[in-house]
Amino acid sequence: MMSIVVNSKKAMVGSMLVRQGSGGVGGARNATTVAVAEAKEELRKKEVVVSNSDGGNKNGGLVSYWGIEPVKVTKEDGTEWKWRSFRPWETYKSNLEIDLKKHHVPTTFMDKVAYWSVKSLRIPTDIFFQRRYGCRAMMLETVAAVPGMVGGMLLHLKSLRRFEHSGGWIKTLLEEAENERMHLMTFMEVAKPKWYERALVFAVQGVFFNAYFLAYLASPKFAHRVVGYLEEEAIHSYTEFIKELDKGVIANVPAPAIAIDYWRLPAYSTLRDVVMVVRADEAHHRDVNHFASDIHFQGNELKAAPAPLGYH
Ligand SMILES: [Fe+2]
Ligand SMILES: [Fe+2]
Repeated sequence: MMSIVVNSKKAMVGSMLVRQGSGGVGGARNATTVAVAEAKEELRKKEVVVSNSDGGNKNGGLVSYWGIEPVKVTKEDGTEWKWRSFRPWETYKSNLEIDLKKHHVPTTFMDKVAYWSVKSLRIPTDIFFQRRYGCRAMMLETVAAVPGMVGGMLLHLKSLRRFEHSGGWIKTLLEEAENERMHLMTFMEVAKPKWYERALVFAVQGVFFNAYFLAYLASPKFAHRVVGYLEEEAIHSYTEFIKELDKGVIANVPAPAIAIDYWRLPAYSTLRDVVMVVRADEAHHRDVNHFASDIHFQGNELKAAPAPLGYH
C-alpha cells in the first residue's frame, strides 16, 4: 500500500518534469525544473532501502514522506535485528517444564460436545496428513491462529460497547493469535505448501472463522473449551512429530533463523528443539483456554479473573 502511494508520488514528480520540460517557457520553466529537481534529490536522500526477511520489499525503492524513520534495533551481540514483525522484547525463553499431560475431564454435556467435536475432527486430519507432521503442523497453525483473534476482537468490541475494561483478556487472546501465527511463520520455513493445500487453507479459513465467530457469540464457555481440547490434540501431534524426528523418519534439520530469535534458542538448535518449544506453547494455550472456559462455567465474565498476560 505504502509503495503504491510512494510510486504515485514519484510518478507525479516525473510527470511534472515532463510537463514543464515540454510546455514551459524561459525563466519560469527553469525555476520550476530546478525546484522539482531539488525535490527529487530530497526524495532520493530519504529513500530507505529495506532488506529484511519477514515481509519487506527486498528491492527497496520505498520512500517515506511521513517522518517515520525505521528504528534500528540491535541484538545483544550488537548485530542488527532483522525481524520487523517482532522485536527483541517480545521474544521469550520457553517454559519446557510445563505439564504436557494435563487434561480437562469433560463432565458437563457442553464439555462432552466440545471434546467429541475435536476428537472427530482428528479422523479426517489423520487421513489427510498421515504421518507428514511438518506439513500437518504448518496447515493446522493456519487454523490455530484464528480463535485468539476472534475472541480478542469480540472482547475488544464488547469493551467499547460497555465502556468497561477487559481485565487484560483482549491482549491475552491477541497474544495467543500472534504466537500461533509465529508457529506458522516458523513451520513454513521447513515445509512449503502445495497449491491444493493453499486452496484448502483458503476454504477452511472461510468456514472456521465464521463458525468460531458464531460459536463465541453464542457461548464463549463452549468456544474456549473447544480450543482447550484442540490444544490438547496439538500437544499430541507435536509429540508424534518428535517421535518421528527421533526415529529419523523426518530429518532433524537446523532450526530456522526466525525460531532461534523468537524463542531465544541456542545458535545450533535443530527442528526438534523448535518442536519442543512450540509444543510447550500449545500447553500454555490449553491452560489459558480451559481456564477461560472455567471462568464462564462459574458464572463470571473473563474480566472477573486477572488475565494470564505473557503466560508462555
Ligand atoms: Fe500452534
Ligand atoms: Fe495453540
